[in-house]
Amino acid sequence: MALYSEKVMDHFRNPRNVGVLEDANGVGTVGNAKCGDIMKMYLKIEDDIVKDVKFETFGCGSAIASSSMATELIKGKPVEEARKLTNEAVAEALDGLPDYKMHCSVLAQEAIEAALKDYEEHGQGA
Ligand code: FES
Repeated sequence: MALYSEKVMDHFRNPRNVGVLEDANGVGTVGNAKCGDIMKMYLKIEDDIVKDVKFETFGCGSAIASSSMATELIKGKPVEEARKLTNEAVAEALDGLPDYKMHCSVLAQEAIEAALKDYEEHGQGA
């Protein structure tokens, strides 16, 4: 069996929602101290809906695929739903990740959490 699913390879090669969101009202940056990978998530929230989302990931292929899939899973969804997104759901949507790459999906969950926290603390009403 291939180490990475077709979906992982697809999102790695053609990541969705890459870039900077100039009018974001929630931005979160997280990193993994062990591997050194960094992920930045930008959210544009309006009326409690994630209207737009973009990311920048300096990291491994699984981190890029995880952030791409995570943005797809929360785009257009209520904030409450985005808040509940787990790394397992991201990995599942990618048809799985190798065990030792699960931490890459954790980074995606944490980046969204950090961006939502930033929105709650600074972005509301912005
Ligand atoms: Fe660290 Fe993938 S190896 S995020």
